[in-house]
Amino acid sequence: MTGEAIPEEILFSMFEAARHAPSSHNSQPWRFAYARRGEPDFAIFLACLSDQNREWARNASALVAVASKAVYTRDGSAEKNVSRSASFDAGAAWACLAVQAELLGWTARPMGAFDGDLARAATHAPDSLKIEVIVAIGKRGDSSPPERQTSEKPNPRKAMDEIVFAGGFPADC
Ligand SMILES: Cc1cc2nc3c(=O)[nH]c(=O)nc-3n(C[C@H](O)[C@H](O)[C@H](O)COP(=O)(O)O)c2cc1C
Repeated sequence: MTGEAIPEEILFSMFEAARHAPSSHNSQPWRFAYARRGEPDFAIFLACLSDQNREWARNASALVAVASKAVYTRDGSAEKNVSRSASFDAGAAWACLAVQAELLGWTARPMGAFDGDLARAATHAPDSLKIEVIVAIGKRGDSSPPERQTSEKPNPRKAMDEIVFAGGFPADC
């Protein structure tokens, strides 16, 4: 990533896309904490990442912690419900954010390799939140060090017949 500054309205356009994701009972369990490059929080968020991620993500324009909140209330009721799909729904929100980033000429990469305790402290996340990923957002750079280049080649996908099945799942899928 190039490390260029990301305008707040661009970043919020990505959050706007994420906000419109579908969720079970419209519980909207996604929460986002962000730090833009140049802000003091950026270094604190960066420090949560694995060494390998930190090496390249230091050139991100923003780091976004995506969290899910499983407990929710419905339509003004005080009754607490626990969503079985909070992580799934937060994943849908992340995907919407990523598509919007690409549409705007930016890129977003999620990272699961981070220290959970550090991330909780860095983002002040209460126990009710599960931090799912930290996302690096930036403009794609022209070059990267040789050790990163293999992982930056387009990744293959499983063939359709390995993932889609008529009538049910085979035992070995
Ligand atoms: C939950 C999750 C965690 C991931 N963690 C990391 C990570 O820590 N570091 C990284 O460089 N990429 C990470 N990725 C990116 C995946 O490695 C990448 O999406 C996958 O290899 C497919 O590559 P592609 O998206 O470029 O096609 C993660 C992706 C997901 C969905």
